[in-house]
Amino acid sequence: MLGPSRWAQPAAASQQPAVSSARRPTAWTLRRPVQQLSPCPVTHNDNARANLVNVCGSSGSIPSSNSQTKFSPTAVRILSGSSAGSASRPAGLILPPGVRSAPVAATAAAAEVVASVGSSPAPEASRPAADYRGHGLDGPILWLGNQRVHSLSERGREVMQSMSNWAGKELPRYLKSAERSWQPADLLPDSASPDFYDQVAALRAASANLPNDYLVVLVGDMVTEEALPSYMNMLNTLDETRDETGASDTPWAHWTRHWTAEENRHGDVLNKYLYLSGRVDMHSVESTIQRLIGRGLDPKLENNPYLCFVYTSFQERATRISHGNTARLAQYHGDLPLAKLTGLIASDEARHEAAYTAIVAEIFERDPDGAMLAFADMMRKVRSQAEVGRQHTKQLVLVL
Ligand SMILES: [Fe+2]
Ligand SMILES: [Fe+2]
Repeated sequence: MLGPSRWAQPAAASQQPAVSSARRPTAWTLRRPVQQLSPCPVTHNDNARANLVNVCGSSGSIPSSNSQTKFSPTAVRILSGSSAGSASRPAGLILPPGVRSAPVAATAAAAEVVASVGSSPAPEASRPAADYRGHGLDGPILWLGNQRVHSLSERGREVMQSMSNWAGKELPRYLKSAERSWQPADLLPDSASPDFYDQVAALRAASANLPNDYLVVLVGDMVTEEALPSYMNMLNTLDETRDETGASDTPWAHWTRHWTAEENRHGDVLNKYLYLSGRVDMHSVESTIQRLIGRGLDPKLENNPYLCFVYTSFQERATRISHGNTARLAQYHGDLPLAKLTGLIASDEARHEAAYTAIVAEIFERDPDGAMLAFADMMRKVRSQAEVGRQHTKQLVLVL
């Protein structure tokens, strides 16, 4: 924990490598132009680039097999994209009669997954009568409006139930108690201290050299963290692992609540830092957060923990990389307290990434076909969303 005088000396300013004249901000808006500095330590760092490639995928292709996990010939064929059926999308929430009592072949079910991702819904008249099979095995595919829901197969339900003891034993190792955790107050000026105003002045002096583009990214990170209610909501939509009461005594519910409690510190500390820095228009940022949470989040997880845990594994890695990069750049620009703060957040994210990766690894152990199909499905969804983002960016560039 930092001492009470940590903000009293703007030591960071004296260690700035490339900015000689730090100017104090004077009001509540962005006011410093971006300065051209020596090569950026993030974009010019090979390790950072490699990490980004790891997250995004260098080729964008889905592996047809895994060197350590054996998949059935059916799954391998499906993953190679060689079989695809027609997509169907019935309206409303539909539970096809008898679907659970009649397991279907993995080929047909998974082919439907392949075909349905990113495809247009079939016209009402052409929908098959009872062809709503789930991921890889025998789960039904249900629709709520145009959102697919409850796709976890019977096999998947059994797997998640069988993992309850494993989750109770393994997941707590990835959590930290409140007593062992840093808190936002440890990293910000102490409002109960007589020299609080001096500490705030030191914070503002240290942040004065952060360029505008850096602040845009930091605000993006903060807004992402502040949408935490959407993420806890997402975890509590999952079949077999949701917290049914809000205080359920199950390993999965325990994980969800304590993960959320840890994450809650991230948006909290970033929000307070940015507020005290005076470098951004906080009203606009706060309005954005309110709108973002109000709109909700649907990463197309279909109440399916297989899909969710694949998604969260990558999401935690992405936040770990992003916060790690902001830490390195804060140090580069001479804001050492901010570097420490964002570095600690990145460290939390690395622990969470390890937890979600361990969950996915365990699912792969118990159900290689189902896990691989879920992995492929999420990767296709990510690629699809990335393409949408690219198109939006192109349009924006054309408009500007
Ligand atoms: Fe976070
Ligand atoms: Fe996280």
